[in-house]
Amino acid sequence: MKIMARTIPVDIPGANYSVHLGSGLLPRIGKRLPKLASANARAFIVTAPEVWSLWGKTLLSGFPATNPPQVLFLPSGEKNKRFANVETLATMLSESGADRSSILIAFGGGIIGDVTGFLAAIYMRGIPYIQIPTTLLSQVDSSVGGKTGVNLSSGKNLIGSFHHPRAVFADTDVLHTLPPPELRAGLYECIKAGIIRDAALFNYMERNAQTILSADDAALTRVIAAAIRMKAEVVTLDEREGGLRMILNYGHTIGHAIETVTNYRALLHGEAVGWGMLAATELSRMRGLLTEAQASRIAAVIHAYGPLPCFRATAEKLYEATARDKKNRAGARRFILAEAIGKALIVPDITDAELRSTIDWLLARVREAGK
Ligand SMILES: NC(=O)c1ccc[n+]([C@@H]2O[C@H](COP(=O)([O-])OP(=O)(O)OC[C@H]3O[C@@H](n4cnc5c(N)ncnc54)[C@H](O)[C@@H]3O)[C@@H](O)[C@H]2O)c1
Ligand SMILES: [Zn+2]
Repeated sequence: MKIMARTIPVDIPGANYSVHLGSGLLPRIGKRLPKLASANARAFIVTAPEVWSLWGKTLLSGFPATNPPQVLFLPSGEKNKRFANVETLATMLSESGADRSSILIAFGGGIIGDVTGFLAAIYMRGIPYIQIPTTLLSQVDSSVGGKTGVNLSSGKNLIGSFHHPRAVFADTDVLHTLPPPELRAGLYECIKAGIIRDAALFNYMERNAQTILSADDAALTRVIAAAIRMKAEVVTLDEREGGLRMILNYGHTIGHAIETVTNYRALLHGEAVGWGMLAATELSRMRGLLTEAQASRIAAVIHAYGPLPCFRATAEKLYEATARDKKNRAGARRFILAEAIGKALIVPDITDAELRSTIDWLLARVREAGK
């Protein structure tokens, strides 16, 4: 079996762990578990039915027959990322005799990771867990950084906790069964990583779009490693989002607004972020932070990983949804902009006029894409 792995350290005070990235990792995880939990710890896998039917057997093959893990299912979909399901899973854990020495294994996309991490954070006031992210987005983004949580009907991720995993295993083999739009959605977050802090990653993605989009292992591994390294560095420097961590939100202010006005139905998160990054790039150009040439290069790379699906929204609705963004403080409109390819900054004073003209510009691009 092909095994190529690399390890990326995350060194946050009180939470040192490694992200293992490569092909052929799944069958090796069971054997490594005793090093990550107490000896003979009982393991509980939380997963989605689709992920389990595709990859469950491969993961299970690495566990000893004498101490097999128990499998708990959470149905897919953002609507299931809810507190009620955390309670159901906690009840199952308790009825199965899970105790403080048990370990949870999040095996799925970002939803499984967020719910399982939160369950691990609060079950018996906190038990260990590991992440086995199976979507590109969860490999490069949600599995690293310790944010866990669930949605309320009034908003996304409104209940949660910081709880870091003991380790992350990102196996690139699983990406071959991902639907192409899910792969592209994760790639937009990788482009973001390049724009905000890694010009070499951006250049690589600019030059190798076709190879990366064909899910070539070596190319994908290179992109994923760089994106994870960028996120690990940023969360190490600012675990609780006091400052620097906010740059991870490049493209997310308008991206979240697009998700809100389309009721989270028309676009995947990464696709909304793709549009949001086009808007943030245009705003950076309007402010004179990026040159015309830099802004055009960024827009060209975002389009190269498309097509970005069209969506319907009025300028007014998008404006209102943007104005409610969590990053705004006391009326000042805060945006993450780019001042170079590979360098983001927090701009605290975006005016209404600037925001309105950016939204008009974006909706014109959406209309063009729909023609
Ligand atoms: N905690 C954080 O820091 C953080 C960061 C970013 C996003 N998130 C959260 O992540 C969630 C989105 O995660 P996502 O994009 O991974 O979506 P997801 O978890 O909904 O997974 C997408 C779909 O792909 C399926 N799937 C997963 N792996 C597969 C595979 N290998 N092959 C085939 N199908 C597979 C899933 O069952 C699901 O239907 C959101 O809830 C978001 O809020 C959290
Ligand atoms: Zn995102």
